Amino acid sequence: MGFYQHKTAFVTGGSTGIGLAIAKALAKEGSHVSIFARTVSKLETAATEVKQTANNSAQKINFYSVDTSDNLDVQKIFTKAIEENGVPDILINCVGIAQPDYFENITFEIFDKTIKTNLYSTWNSVYTLVPYMKEKGGIIVNTSSIAGFLGVFGYADYCMTKFGIIGFSEALRSELKQHNIKVQVLCPPDTDTPGFEAENKNKPVETKAIGGKAKLLKPEFVADIVLKEMQKKSFLIIPGFDGKLTRVIKRFFPSLIDWIMNSSIQKAQKK
Ligand SMILES: NC(=O)c1ccc[n+]([C@@H]2O[C@H](COP(=O)([O-])OP(=O)(O)OC[C@H]3O[C@@H](n4cnc5c(N)ncnc54)[C@H](OP(=O)(O)O)[C@@H]3O)[C@@H](O)[C@H]2O)c1
Repeated sequence: MGFYQHKTAFVTGGSTGIGLAIAKALAKEGSHVSIFARTVSKLETAATEVKQTANNSAQKINFYSVDTSDNLDVQKIFTKAIEENGVPDILINCVGIAQPDYFENITFEIFDKTIKTNLYSTWNSVYTLVPYMKEKGGIIVNTSSIAGFLGVFGYADYCMTKFGIIGFSEALRSELKQHNIKVQVLCPPDTDTPGFEAENKNKPVETKAIGGKAKLLKPEFVADIVLKEMQKKSFLIIPGFDGKLTRVIKRFFPSLIDWIMNSSIQKAQKK
């Protein structure tokens, strides 16, 4: 029997992009999967896709409309989801937003939305589910980014949240170990999703120049890596060679990565 067979998984941000790809991959492996996002029409379409991927008609595939940045909404909807599906063995927190721009153009409203969407959402679902999950143990994967360990031009507010996700997850990993809950962090590089497409619309030229040569990953590839890594002890999950290399350079040769990024920024500014 496979690792994911008969497991119950909750995937926030599961109606599009990376979250949807992970939900489908889990369903394919035999898990009961519930997806969470705000827009009902997108959830309906996504749940149909997830059902079609499932390998057994007895698998429970459900969807729930919730604003994960709203703590009361999360408590209400996740409690309902537990009543209908049982306590999850796996929680994937995939909700996130990026609206890259020059720091001074990031209004308080945008900053507030980024913080609430990226940080509060992760906090709220973990806070609501841990009291249940600790009864039987499980896996929590929070989603950060390459911009969670590397400060990137144009992503001041986003980096603040994604660095935060790694710190939060490290503390949580230490606390939840005694309850047999493993905490991991997904750090995807640029991935071809609706969120990434929207993000590209307003990217400063310098930000485009930095990311220019990196390979754009497919969400299905990211999902495959997540499923492989959830079976291991790794803390950071970094899909693809470029992302792993960036991590190694940042860790061991930080001035080299500064030099590479500054060269791209200066070239873009001269143009
Ligand atoms: N794509 C990339 O290149 C990339 C790179 C690094 C990190 N990431 C991270 O990976 C995660 C997924 O990214 P993605 O590109 O797949 O995103 P995406 O395509 O924009 O999907 C975002 C998902 O989150 C949901 N969502 C957004 N705000 C929400 C809220 N307040 N409450 C509930 N659901 C909400 C969306 O549905 P509704 O709008 O209907 O709610 C959707 O299901 C994010 O955390 C992102 O920061 C992505």
